[in-house]
Amino acid sequence: MTVESVRPGTSEGTPLREPPVAGGGVPLLGHGWKLVRDPLAFLGQLRDHGDVVRLKLGPKTVYAVTTPALTGTVALSPDYIIAGPLWESLESLLGKEGVATANGPLHRRQRRTIQPAFKLDAIPAYGPIMAEESYALVERWHSGKVLDVTAESFRVAVRIAARCLMRGGYMDARADRICTDLATLFSGMYQRMVVPLGPLYKVPLPANREFNRALADLHVLVDEIVADRRASGQKPDDLLTALLEAKDENGDPIGEQEIHDQVIAILTPGSETVGATVMSLLLVLTEHPELGDKIHDEVKTVVGDRPVAFEDVRKLTYTANVVTETLRLYPAVWILTRRAVTDTELGGYRIPEGADLIYSPYAVQRDGRSYERHEEFDPDRWLPERSGDVPKYAMSPFSVGNRKCPSDHFSMAELTLLTAVIASAHRFEHAGGSDPRPRIGITLRPRRLMLRALPR
Ligand code: HEM
Repeated sequence: MTVESVRPGTSEGTPLREPPVAGGGVPLLGHGWKLVRDPLAFLGQLRDHGDVVRLKLGPKTVYAVTTPALTGTVALSPDYIIAGPLWESLESLLGKEGVATANGPLHRRQRRTIQPAFKLDAIPAYGPIMAEESYALVERWHSGKVLDVTAESFRVAVRIAARCLMRGGYMDARADRICTDLATLFSGMYQRMVVPLGPLYKVPLPANREFNRALADLHVLVDEIVADRRASGQKPDDLLTALLEAKDENGDPIGEQEIHDQVIAILTPGSETVGATVMSLLLVLTEHPELGDKIHDEVKTVVGDRPVAFEDVRKLTYTANVVTETLRLYPAVWILTRRAVTDTELGGYRIPEGADLIYSPYAVQRDGRSYERHEEFDPDRWLPERSGDVPKYAMSPFSVGNRKCPSDHFSMAELTLLTAVIASAHRFEHAGGSDPRPRIGITLRPRRLMLRALPR
């Protein structure tokens, strides 16, 4: 019997405890105001109060899970599904019929549809596009102009996802629109999640109007992408074709709504997470120039003077460790939620059916109980002889279990190649207006990076 399958009342007869309530709640907003004001610090200290603690978000009680082992249990257990505050706040964007939000048999069928595009042996075919986009980026930066890194990072993320998975020049003109829309949506959604004051978000204030405009535009964009592909009459061997040709359990074509939700469910997380991580990587290279120097040396040794190619990536181990350490300290997906579908137990605590749970990869991956010198950026902690010290589930930036990111290999290859190309070409320094403090939205990234790229 696994821990996950133990039901309350069927274990050793010891009554299950209620998790403690975290301190610091205020009337009406509960702990929501802490999650708005300084969520990273708030979540980072919750483990001091218990392995599972209760939070009040407005009228709701939410269970926060704080240890690596229990976050792994939640991610792997069938007792919890994708639902809860994060997903409710994302529903207007992601819909209910895409792979990121569906549950049960629909989700399993959709994973089967998209999986071939992300398989390990599918990824080398994306290599030339990843390399071309990486070199186009550093070429543009040679001008010496101050870079608005937010725009540059999201642009390259959207272009690589769109060109690899939904091949077509028709994405070029739309990449910037997608980036602008997503930036507005992902910060507005975080607010709706932690301060769920439903009707207030319908008041026609400028911020709400801007949010609604971005949401409507993104849905129009996706319809345009699907219509353009159909009008082209082409069926390249890519993810968009797989989505358009997918059949349901009866062998019938899937509906238009499902196609729409699926495109959004892949494009949105694909662009937002990689864009945020590229920003964090550029911050790391700016603040630790010695890392960039070492990457430059590694590329010289492994690749020599020719351009870096996809085939080099698996030999660029130092570069990959810089990417991994960036994902540890700056996980783009820094908060996750689930809902219990049955009365269950977690770490000896009672979790009632319908309970919403949250946990934070950011807090888990920076916890001093799991990592020595936990705040220090140390790529060498991922050397084979040291990485075994990391407790299980203390490093899961792509999550685990049936909702694990399908794109973990794709993303690691993309980010390692990009980092190798960028660090070989440039050093960076902050320019005026740069603000590297974290910006909290549904994803985590530096607030505003204005950098000067100095040629090597
Ligand atoms: C799911 C992280 C890149 C598509 C997830 C999840 C995480 C994650 C943590 C699981 C969410 C959960 O457990 O609730 C990341 C990170 C990325 C990245 C850190 C890059 C640095 C991408 C890319 C794509 C993508 C490039 C697509 C092009 C998806 C999809 C899901 C997902 C479709 C939903 C899977 C499901 O529910 O079955 N991602 N992701 N991600 N990711 Fe990624």
